[in-house]
Amino acid sequence: MRRPVIAGNWKLNNNIEATKEFLLQLKDKIKDAEVDAVICPTYTSLSTAIELLKDTDVKVGAQNMHWTTSGAYTGEISGEMLKELGVEYVIIGHSERRQYFAETDETVNKKVLKALSLDLIPIVCVGESLEEREKGLQEDIVTNQVRLALEGVTKDQISKVIIAYEPIWAIGTGKTASSEQAEEVCKWIRETVEKLYTSQESEAIRIQYGGSVNKSNVKELMGMPNIDGALVGGASLKMDFVDLIKY
Ligand code: G3H
Repeated sequence: MRRPVIAGNWKLNNNIEATKEFLLQLKDKIKDAEVDAVICPTYTSLSTAIELLKDTDVKVGAQNMHWTTSGAYTGEISGEMLKELGVEYVIIGHSERRQYFAETDETVNKKVLKALSLDLIPIVCVGESLEEREKGLQEDIVTNQVRLALEGVTKDQISKVIIAYEPIWAIGTGKTASSEQAEEVCKWIRETVEKLYTSQESEAIRIQYGGSVNKSNVKELMGMPNIDGALVGGASLKMDFVDLIKY
């Protein structure tokens, strides 16, 4: 049985004060959650979140990292620095990073390998654009992104990876993929993992859906056989996140 994993990606929202206020309210409401719950705040709120959540089962993730340890990379943060803070998860290759910050399949792969080498759990984002879906290219696009992201990931490491399928057209638009559309792609992702490894690894890997997940659609999405969790943007900024964790 795969344990569900619900992660909140706060993107560029919530300063330290807002992080404190939100998490102080949240932590009492999510005791006994039967899922792995993860909050991914901005870099500047990571320490605050880790401190506030240390006596709970909620884990903290970063939204990005660089693949080198140190060097002349202005504005970047390394995986080692995240580890030093106590971060346990890291989102890699979110479509917003691919779109606005020139993230490529190659840099995604480097970051995945580095995260795994440090024992950080990578949440690797893949997904097609609206134009690609309209051309019927979603299977090729997504399975190719998965293959490239996982290049060099060993059989021993693969079960630690989480893959998040996020169709770009469903992010922040209120336009969720139907549970059938989401399931279809998550199944292709699992089949791709099986081709790259074996059925043992493909059965173990956790695959999330992300894109306008909210308290009204989470149950149906989570009921699909190949969807093991959600990567949540907007709804993770509200107390609704409690309903998602306790779907
Ligand atoms: O990382 C989260 C996704 O981009 C989904 O965002 O729930 O606001 O659509 P959303």
